[in-house]
Amino acid sequence: MNRERSRNLYDRALSVLPGGVNSPVRAVRPYPFFVKRGDGAHVIDADGNRYLDYAMGYGPLLLGHDLPQPVQSAIQSRLSDGPMYGAPTEVEVELAEFVARHVPSVEMVRFVNSGTEATVSAVRLARGYTDRDKIVVMQGGYHGAQESTLVQGESGRPAEPSSGGIPAAFARETIPVPFNDEEALRDAFEEHGEDVACVLAEPILGNHGVVHPVEGYLETLREVTDEHGSLLVFDEVITGFRVGGLQCAQGKFGVTPDLTTFGKIVGGGFPIGAVGGRAEIVEQFAPTGPVFQAGTFSGHPVTMTAGLETLRFAAENDVYDHVDDLGERLRRGLTDIVADRAPEYTVAGTDSIFKVIFTREGPSDREGHCEAGCTQDANCPRFDYCPKSGADVDRAETERWERLFRPAMLDQGVFLTANQFEAQFVSYAHTEEDVEATLEAYKEAL
Ligand SMILES: Cc1ncc(COP(=O)(O)O)c(C=O)c1O
Repeated sequence: MNRERSRNLYDRALSVLPGGVNSPVRAVRPYPFFVKRGDGAHVIDADGNRYLDYAMGYGPLLLGHDLPQPVQSAIQSRLSDGPMYGAPTEVEVELAEFVARHVPSVEMVRFVNSGTEATVSAVRLARGYTDRDKIVVMQGGYHGAQESTLVQGESGRPAEPSSGGIPAAFARETIPVPFNDEEALRDAFEEHGEDVACVLAEPILGNHGVVHPVEGYLETLREVTDEHGSLLVFDEVITGFRVGGLQCAQGKFGVTPDLTTFGKIVGGGFPIGAVGGRAEIVEQFAPTGPVFQAGTFSGHPVTMTAGLETLRFAAENDVYDHVDDLGERLRRGLTDIVADRAPEYTVAGTDSIFKVIFTREGPSDREGHCEAGCTQDANCPRFDYCPKSGADVDRAETERWERLFRPAMLDQGVFLTANQFEAQFVSYAHTEEDVEATLEAYKEAL
């Protein structure tokens, strides 16, 4: 595949953008392809190469690259009225009403401009509401580029910064625990419970290999936070309007948090974040409450229109049936391929999310496995081998995934996310034929 133009563009980019990119995950080695345009389930690069896209903008593009006609014309019509005003518009009320109608935890929403801003604001809100400073997060969980969660450290102990530029004092207010480890959570609360403002957790680890919760874990998060007067915040930036359809992962798993953060799909492909939850908590935000939060671009009319029309389209068409069905076909097909070629590997994902984790060990017994991706079924012979936490995924063959497998898929025209950790997504534009072609490519590359 000739990628000469991308190579030259990257050469230029390296002189003016740090690492040649505006978000580090894009700096794949030796250099990324530069996208010229999207086309349905595909992207076409600067050299004219076409790739079947499972990055889908890292999650926002539920409908694929060609927005359906009603969505497209609503956005264009909105744009022709001028980009933004700094005064309220009807469409932000409509999108808030839509979210509140469908997502169990949400009575009120504050729209912001990125998932990061959503989690920053949710943590500030939880701290303001409870008058406590500490937060508990999952090791390996990702909540954007924010000071309170870019941390590392031992389970249950105050953390250290995992990035330059973060004061140690800041990170000490964060307590990491392993995902799916009930005992570690209870221990952390035993020691720090009175000081914990919230547990901030994704219902499924979506940036760390895709790890499904074990049965009862999300319920335990709910129970322990209730017992200690802390808030439960679900970060649904990835899972929101992706897992469980319009009710989001909290509806699918039947666990209602106090606050939820959103991003990605709720903006229909435009920059967005949101914090939703019970009115008495969300009203602690300014101007009704003492927790300051503001933004020039927040509730941007074009973004609000794209989000609302995308979600309306999903509500009125077979979007979730389609993407979930293809997601299941992919995971089933991958389970068969992996059983044949690399039985130690784990197929993970749910709904329209999928990933093959290059785990190093598996059971000798191949019967009775989860058939369409690991759901942490305790009766599955793979149960003890499937990653339960971020650290388990770290122990997988992450280098093999990134340096050999991903480039081999790219050479076959399949664009996967940059590394072992990031989830992959099916869109409404993908077809059964795409799934078949993808499975053939996996057969070849694994
Ligand atoms: C779960 C989760 N939270 C927060 C974020 C940050 O969102 P953004 O990149 O829009 O700032 C991400 C981004 O991938 C995410 O996956």
